[in-house]
Amino acid sequence: MRRSLVAGNWKMHGSRESIADLLQALIKGARDGIDGVDVVVCPPLPYLQMSQQMLAGSVWQLGAQTVHSQPCGAYTGEVAASMLADFSVRYVLVGHSERRQLAHETDAVVAEKFSAVLRHAISPILCLGETLEERESGRAEEVVAMQLNAVLEHSGVSAMANAVIAYEPVWAIGTGRTASAGQAQEMHRFIRELMARRSAKVAGQIRIIYGGSVNAGNARALFAQSDIDGGLVGGASLKADEFLTICKSVS
Ligand code: 13P
Repeated sequence: MRRSLVAGNWKMHGSRESIADLLQALIKGARDGIDGVDVVVCPPLPYLQMSQQMLAGSVWQLGAQTVHSQPCGAYTGEVAASMLADFSVRYVLVGHSERRQLAHETDAVVAEKFSAVLRHAISPILCLGETLEERESGRAEEVVAMQLNAVLEHSGVSAMANAVIAYEPVWAIGTGRTASAGQAQEMHRFIRELMARRSAKVAGQIRIIYGGSVNAGNARALFAQSDIDGGLVGGASLKADEFLTICKSVS
C-alpha cells in the first residue's frame, strides 16, 4: 500500500509574517492528527530556516521549490542540495513547469537536478505535464513520456524508489481548470505503466501525485482514483483551513 503525500507549493508568495502565521495555523490544525498521509510544505527559500524551526516536532515536513544540479561553485543566485539538506529539507520539486518555462530548464537539466538531490538523501518530486496545445494536438502522453524517460535514462529506474512523481498538466496550473478525476487517473496510470516496463516493483511503490487547481472541493474525487496518491497544491495551500481540508481528504 502506497502512503499518500500532499505537498503545498507556496511559490513566490508570502512574507515573514504571513508565512509564520500560515505555519502556525497548519501546525495547530494538524494537532488532532492527519492520518495516513505525508504532509509537506515548500516555502520560498528565504523562509526555510524559520520554517524548519517552527515545524520541528510537528507532522509537517519541509520541501524546497528548486535546487541546482551542481554541488557548489560560481552559480550566483542558486542553491545546492547540500544546503537544503542543512535545513532538514526532505523533498525538492524538480522540473516544475514554471521552472521549465521561465528558467528554461530542459529535460537534461531536470535529470541532472534529480540525481543531485538523491545524493543528499532528499526525495525529488519530479514534475511532469503537457501544455494545452500539446494536449489538444493529442501529444500529452508523448510529452510526459519524454520528460519521464529523460530522468529514467539518466538515473535508472532504481533511483525512482526514493522519488515522487507529480503530474501537473500546465493548462490546469493556477487556472481553476482542473483535470477531471478521470483525465488525471488516465495519465497517472499511463505513467505507472511506463515505469512498470522497467520495474514492476518500483511502479507499484512509487507515489504519483496530481497538481493543477486542486482545492477543497475537488481533492476527494481526485485522491479517490486508484493511481492518484495525493496532491501538489499551489494557491489553495496558502489558505490554512483549505489546505488542511485537502490533506484530510486523503483516506
Ligand atoms: P495551483 O494549485 O495554484 O493550480 O498550482 C499548482 C502547482 O503548480 C503546484 O506546484
